[in-house]
Amino acid sequence: MPSKVTAPSIRSMKGGARIVCLTAYDFTGARLADEAGVDLVLVGDSLASVVFGRESTTGVTLEEVEHHVRAVRSGTHRALLVGDLPMGSYGSSVGQAVDSAVRLVKAGAEAVKLEGPFYEEIAAIRKVGIPVMGHVGMTPQSENLFGGFKVQGREDEGSATVETARQLEQAGVFAIVVELVPREVGGQVTRAVRVPTIGIGAGPDCDGEIQVLTDILGLSPKVYRHSRVFSDCGQAVRAGIQEYARAVREREFPSESESF
Ligand code: KIV
Repeated sequence: MPSKVTAPSIRSMKGGARIVCLTAYDFTGARLADEAGVDLVLVGDSLASVVFGRESTTGVTLEEVEHHVRAVRSGTHRALLVGDLPMGSYGSSVGQAVDSAVRLVKAGAEAVKLEGPFYEEIAAIRKVGIPVMGHVGMTPQSENLFGGFKVQGREDEGSATVETARQLEQAGVFAIVVELVPREVGGQVTRAVRVPTIGIGAGPDCDGEIQVLTDILGLSPKVYRHSRVFSDCGQAVRAGIQEYARAVREREFPSESESF
């Protein structure tokens, strides 16, 4: 396994080995992802649904992301740890974005991600020494503008998405998440920029892929078209808990050897 992953090393993977990224929200998930060799762990604002069972990411606060970055920090050693700036932690001024990014780094993040065309903010965050990841296509914090979770880039054949990605590259991002766009648009964005693209629902032509940990482990209540259950841990966890309950109820656990 190669040594510690950094933002420059992710940047240098453009067009080479595919970049494997996964979300994590706590020490255990981060430890398992890191031990499995993922390149980048994101504490996503998807913690809204995964941790809190909320419908939307728009209610996530900076304090909540900070809290989970601290937990993920303890389990992440090799992978690059990226903290997601939630809605309301940037967008009103450049200073606000810089202050929010610094808070996530103080909590243990090595880079931050933000959604959409905040070029000045990205340059300013970089200026204080923090690498930034961009995010184009379906940006969930703007779900109310989009009218829901809808595939983006169909009407204009991806031209706006490509243009935003180009400007994000100019602003200095080290990678760009491309979410929920037709596969052709995923490919177009990838060819248009010199930084790696990290797809989710963006087809197979991006430089890497990111998925939500609980989606690929069968722990989410729903299976999404853009995801795949690689290991049905939900079933295994339920069976384990049922077996524990049976053993307790039948006075089989704890046994003599499990007692002092
Ligand atoms: O919040 C999140 O988990 C994300 C990824 C899915 C890209 O933004």
